[in-house]
Amino acid sequence: MTDYKRDITIDYSNVMEEAVGPEHGISQGELELLRPRAAEVHKWLAGLKEKGEIGFFKLHEADTTKIKKYAARVRERYENFVVLGIGGSALGASAINGAVGRNFAPLLTKRKRDGYPRLFVADNIDPDNFGQLLSALDPKKTIFNVVSKSGATAETMSQFMVVFGMLEKKLKGKWKKRVVVTTDPAKGVLREIVNEHKLDSFEVPPNVGGRFSVGSAVGLLPLACAGVDVDALLAGSARMAERTRSDDITGNPAYLFSAVMHVADVKKRKPMVVMMPYSSRLYGMADWFAQLWAESLGKRTTRGGSVVHAGQTPIKALGATDQHSQVQLYVEGPFDKIFAFLEVEKFDSELRIPSVFGKRPETSYLAGSTMNELLNIELQGTKYALTIHNRPNLTIKLPEISAHTVGQLVYMLELSTAFSGGLYDVNPFDQPGVEFGKNFAYAMMGKEGYSGLKAEITAKLKDSKRRTVE
Ligand code: PA5
Repeated sequence: MTDYKRDITIDYSNVMEEAVGPEHGISQGELELLRPRAAEVHKWLAGLKEKGEIGFFKLHEADTTKIKKYAARVRERYENFVVLGIGGSALGASAINGAVGRNFAPLLTKRKRDGYPRLFVADNIDPDNFGQLLSALDPKKTIFNVVSKSGATAETMSQFMVVFGMLEKKLKGKWKKRVVVTTDPAKGVLREIVNEHKLDSFEVPPNVGGRFSVGSAVGLLPLACAGVDVDALLAGSARMAERTRSDDITGNPAYLFSAVMHVADVKKRKPMVVMMPYSSRLYGMADWFAQLWAESLGKRTTRGGSVVHAGQTPIKALGATDQHSQVQLYVEGPFDKIFAFLEVEKFDSELRIPSVFGKRPETSYLAGSTMNELLNIELQGTKYALTIHNRPNLTIKLPEISAHTVGQLVYMLELSTAFSGGLYDVNPFDQPGVEFGKNFAYAMMGKEGYSGLKAEITAKLKDSKRRTVE
């Protein structure tokens, strides 16, 4: 049995008024004022969990046997595993694979990849990119995992249709074992296709929304196939679930993160949050968080229907890379942001910088130290610069990057997002703004039942004044 002891922590000293001053910093009193609301939101979430209305709370309790069995079969026989999906059906697998998967797997031989297939997440419908990916893969050695909860998303279904056409042409009748579908257990056209063609399939629990689904087969299947320890990932989420049972906003890491972001947004005029990992491996987690935070909290109305236009805009940045790009703006530009760093206390590798260019002062100060020290010092430098310029910033510290710590982070940010929905009094589990785009595509691509909407859109577009420069 693996012994997991290392918890992620949050250092929020630099968001407080003692560090960044009373105008931009949060006072203990402001946090205290949130406690009654926090207790109500805690109760609301507990009710959703108990009644089974929202399922992400319990994904870490699921049995992974079927997923691991399928993954073992794929590992033996295939070289590539391609996820066809978008949004919540793609970002989680991509982020976690980037964090704990075999990065640069496409460059490695099968033996160096320990026999695991390369994972590709085709989360777009760019014809150049998707076309190039398909022509680079040998269909005989590739599994395509179609992931769509609704089974109706135009991007995913068009990817699947292109792949289906290609497989039929190249493999004739022998393509069925090259496709595995992850979708609703009973509803939707994908489930119909699974039944009609007797395809391998996994289920997205009906009470788990796309962006909260990485702990289900949506994320676990591709991750297991790519060699990620999915049990450690879920154990990490379980550990975080255990640490986030209380409604104490300064003791519960998920609620603390929400409380800080909420006060920053509504009281300190910080409508943007920059998530900045100082680790390339964790950059995808910032991308995943951006979707979770934006799609869950960016809402026109409260749950009661009053117009609020709520939400805090998530921005992703990468340390140290973006020190030479965005950080100038962050240190001296408008006071409209709060920062969340992801810090890694111990990297897997230590890369020593050799003494190679003699006694030149421009390089000799680096010689003998490590890239690890340099990256860490640069992170301390960014925090220091922001803090002395009165920019609130907090740090989520990962003792190391492992499936277990990433599993903790996933659950913490999912719970924070749900809790923040409660603080803003919006529904964090729907996405009417996204549905709008989906309906536009259905109408304009000629889907049955959408001709009225197509006529309406066409008329509106005809009336709008065009201004172009040629
Ligand atoms: O979080 C969400 O609900 C969305 O981002 C969906 O995941 C995305 O739109 C894809 O939907 P589906 O899985 O139904 O294809």
